[in-house]
Amino acid sequence: NRQDELSGIHVLVTAGPTREPLDAVRFLSNYSSGKMGYALAEEAKERGARVTLISGPTKLEPPQGVNLISVQTAEEMFNAVKENFAAADVVIKAAAVADFRPRWVTSGKIKKESADLLLELERTPDILAYLGQNKSNQILVGFAAETEDLLVNAREKLARKNLDMIVANDLTEEGAGFDVDTNVATILFPEGEAVELPRLTKKELAGVILDQVAKLLRRTKED
Ligand code: C5P
Repeated sequence: NRQDELSGIHVLVTAGPTREPLDAVRFLSNYSSGKMGYALAEEAKERGARVTLISGPTKLEPPQGVNLISVQTAEEMFNAVKENFAAADVVIKAAAVADFRPRWVTSGKIKKESADLLLELERTPDILAYLGQNKSNQILVGFAAETEDLLVNAREKLARKNLDMIVANDLTEEGAGFDVDTNVATILFPEGEAVELPRLTKKELAGVILDQVAKLLRRTKED
């Protein structure tokens, strides 16, 4: 019975892009719509989980009954995730976290005084890598959105970030990736197993991901 498949389970989902300020009126970001993360939050809620959704700026309506925490920057998302990590049983990191941020944030508006402007960027914290290093018994699910060598890169991330599952989606496939309502993905596991999926709506894909999460939860309960 799907309705209570995840009852008693606390699922933490991150979604959307982050915004990294450059000055008082500008930021660096990406095209993430948040659709995949919101679909996961909704599906987890429908299966009886307690859901915390940590989201960057999106145009989406949060699903009924989920605890929404709104953030802007990678740093804010990192702090919100750390605060909610210990209480979570499952963490699904669907957010497209900015990998770099401006090293200096100008307090006012940058003036167009010179012909060129050189931006210096620094790395943001890798939230998921931190979780992988600090997990107790949480199930960690990551996403890998790639434009080349998808499965090789996804396997590498699965191992390096100490994940239990990674959802690899090919940004070059039609009907996959940012802002569309469908996705084409392969789910990979540390033991080498791979579940290759056809084009699904993000809601359907959320269902398949949570089926796999439920399977892992049953397995850890048996051990
Ligand atoms: O950016 P990358 O391809 O490494 O993203 C893989 C996974 O790591 C995604 O699940 C993403 O949400 C997560 N990530 C993160 N913090 C970052 C970068 C990525 O949690 N700074």
